Amino acid sequence: MLIALGVTGGIGAYKAVEVCRGLQKHGHDVVAVMTRSAARFVGPVTFEAITRRPVITSQWKPGINTRLRAERSDEASTEPWRSRGDIEHIAIADGIALLLVAPCTANVIGKFANGIADDFLTSLYLATRAPVLLAPAMNSNMLAHEAVQRNLQVLAARGVGFVEPGEGYLACGWIGKGRLAEPPEIVSAAVRALAPADSLLRGRRVLVTAGPTYEDIDPVRYIGNRSSGRMGFALAAEARRRGARVTLVAGPTRLAPPAADEIVRVRSAAEMHAAVLGGAEGADVVIMAAAVADYTPADPASHKVSKQDGPLTLTLERTPDILAELGRARPRRASGSPILVGFAAETADVIPRAREKRTRKGLDLIVANDVSRADAGFDVGTNVVTVIGDERQREVPLQSKERVAAAILDEVEDLLRARAAAPARA
Ligand SMILES: Cc1cc2nc3c(=O)[nH]c(=O)nc-3n(C[C@H](O)[C@H](O)[C@H](O)COP(=O)(O)O)c2cc1C
Repeated sequence: MLIALGVTGGIGAYKAVEVCRGLQKHGHDVVAVMTRSAARFVGPVTFEAITRRPVITSQWKPGINTRLRAERSDEASTEPWRSRGDIEHIAIADGIALLLVAPCTANVIGKFANGIADDFLTSLYLATRAPVLLAPAMNSNMLAHEAVQRNLQVLAARGVGFVEPGEGYLACGWIGKGRLAEPPEIVSAAVRALAPADSLLRGRRVLVTAGPTYEDIDPVRYIGNRSSGRMGFALAAEARRRGARVTLVAGPTRLAPPAADEIVRVRSAAEMHAAVLGGAEGADVVIMAAAVADYTPADPASHKVSKQDGPLTLTLERTPDILAELGRARPRRASGSPILVGFAAETADVIPRAREKRTRKGLDLIVANDVSRADAGFDVGTNVVTVIGDERQREVPLQSKERVAAAILDEVEDLLRARAAAPARA
């Protein structure tokens, strides 16, 4: 999605560069809009290089509109700005999914609150219908001033979102409240603000596991599996896009994990077990997409096992069944029971086995995955699954793991909706 990142004239303007990068890592496009004062703190060229778009520093300099218009529609991108008669800030106002201002000065807060539109950013604020998120930053006395506080209240009442300034050492030499929130916090707030307003995952805690586990035989050898982590990563990213607070528990994978509120790296099934049981406390949804080893060497050697004549016998013992344990713990939990979603990776009798596993482990949903197909399951970008619940079964045809993740989370949201409605019916 396209985000307008407003940068205003505060000392924290340099941190907007990191905010910009964070938004891009979440797959968003950014157009930077700088006030005249902001350009005295950071050079527009920096944002231009990072966003790969012209930076808007004045309403009297046309340019970016042509490109934006081409992205929004099938109109020719070569059409000169003025011949269309579009007005730059109006065109951008229509094209953005979010207006984020970080840092936001007392001055811009005042202008937004009072409808003053004397530059591009303040005109854009009035022209856009996109959600607005501000990260104020200023000296503590400025922040505490009645005028600023009143302006903040006016904006809050209008539905504007805020990323609260933090306490700490201020550029003016003071220590107090007014410091720009840290860039990851601003990025998380922006991602949440972009979540579909009607998503039931908004604000919920979702724990997702991903990837394989490695069970050590000795210090140099292990038993692993072919899971790449792609499916779990896609689920974590989609849950976050829908506004959930995501904890990702990831086994050893080559792929970089998506952004999450918390990422716990584990290696073995035992580590995965500890991380999930700890993280599941307080979770609303637990999705176990990881391929956790069922067996682990009973007695891993502390030194490298030497080659010997003849066969080598390895004794394996069962690893803890994490999902079954979570399923058994459900009735005892005071904090309410999370929705439990498991995966059944099978190569034969996929649906009957998955059904049986769902009942045996006390799961709400099971995602049956035929991993014998070349285009589904482990280490490919696509998947085809069947999502099986208590009373329903949904076939999700072959498509990208990102889209499969969206289909699975649609089912999770349906369950959340049904749960919310259940007491009303009773
Ligand atoms: C070194 C320096 C640092 C400043 N830091 C801030 C700040 O953090 N917050 C703020 O509201 N104003 C700050 N100001 C004052 C603003 O730059 C000033 O109000 C300016 O008019 C803001 O313009 P703008 O809101 O259009 O970007 C600072 C000024 C200077 C010279």
